[in-house]
Amino acid sequence: MSVLLKHITKIFKDPNNTAKEFTAVKDVNLDVHEGEMVTFLGPSGCGKTTTLRVISGFESPTEGEVWISGKMVNNDPPNKRDTSMVFQSYAIFPHLSVSQNIGFGLDLKGISKKEIRTQVETIMEVMNFKDLYNRRPDQLSGGQQQRVALARAIINKPKVLLFDEPLSNLDAKLRDQMRIEIRRIQQTFGITSIYVTHDQDEAMTVSDRIMVMNEGEVMQIGTPFEIYSRPANTFVSDFIGRVNFFPATVISAGTDGVVVKCFGQQRVIPSWNGEFVKDEQVNIVLRPESLILGKLEAGKPFAKGVIKRSVYLGPTVEYEIELEGMDALMLAVTYNPVKEGFYRDGEKIQIDFDPVSAHVLPR
Ligand SMILES: Nc1ncnc2c1ncn2[C@@H]1O[C@H](COP(=O)(O)OP(=O)(O)OP(=O)(O)O)[C@@H](O)[C@H]1O
Ligand SMILES: [Mg+2]
Repeated sequence: MSVLLKHITKIFKDPNNTAKEFTAVKDVNLDVHEGEMVTFLGPSGCGKTTTLRVISGFESPTEGEVWISGKMVNNDPPNKRDTSMVFQSYAIFPHLSVSQNIGFGLDLKGISKKEIRTQVETIMEVMNFKDLYNRRPDQLSGGQQQRVALARAIINKPKVLLFDEPLSNLDAKLRDQMRIEIRRIQQTFGITSIYVTHDQDEAMTVSDRIMVMNEGEVMQIGTPFEIYSRPANTFVSDFIGRVNFFPATVISAGTDGVVVKCFGQQRVIPSWNGEFVKDEQVNIVLRPESLILGKLEAGKPFAKGVIKRSVYLGPTVEYEIELEGMDALMLAVTYNPVKEGFYRDGEKIQIDFDPVSAHVLPR
């Protein structure tokens, strides 16, 4: 293990009224492996930055322990923890050149000018911006400044690299590029990293694993695949991506899956979270791309509906569908409309799903 959080709780006291307390982080347990990149993902105020600051030592936990590389560091100040932080405001020094900015930490350590030059050149080469060696920060784009900040953090070879929403100041296109770049560099150097974001696409792109938080608590820790397709609870399923819930009743629950009844039909769903008993009310969780739409035909489809609204997006078409016997609108996405065709507003359709792409959660 490289970073270990054991039962971390952080309670803030109101400075004006010390009797008033606020629990920002509640009993967080996490084990980040050597070379792994784990993302904290969750809505604003859920405790992501606070947890990161507890790891870096800028905040001390009310309860629990922080371990870095096998050592309990609760009593170590931030500069003794061997972590490096990359923020959204890059905080690079305006009066120093790019190379001086990157080599700054090495200079403080008293490393020779020649050695600093070699190391700075190497890192700039790997990060593809060697040509900016002598530039000043005011001559750089936002993405280039972020690259400088990243290089400056990496060159000190910290045991752990911490990112707090490092890309939120950049425009959408640059953000997409930089995500991939950050992931590439993190993997190239094999640095154990923790990355904070409230953007799910960003989390999916950069992470080995994602820790989803809500109101200070851990909702789920898992790979991007697990978080998206096998969410632990309703909050996670709803927060990550878009989702449809089909209310259903449990017929039986066995090792092969949960047998549920929905729209008067039985289905065996092989993926679920929770322990179910007969007659329990549950939700079948289905992503928009997991709904299979078809022209209404004779026979007994899983469900019938009407297209309420369709949005043609080129590679995909998105539909809002009103289902017979249900209040909520369902969201469906189909691909390759040039080949597959698409449905018009008001058209009657039938829907079905493949049990493999479904997941069952307690209601
Ligand atoms: N020093 C402090 N004193 C009191 N409350 C605080 C303090 N720092 C943070 N909080 C509160 O703790 C909660 C968690 O804050 P935190 O900054 O960790 O959220 P976050 O998940 O990083 O949110 P965002 O996505 O908006 O950055 C918030 O409700 C915040 O107001
Ligand atoms: Mg924050």
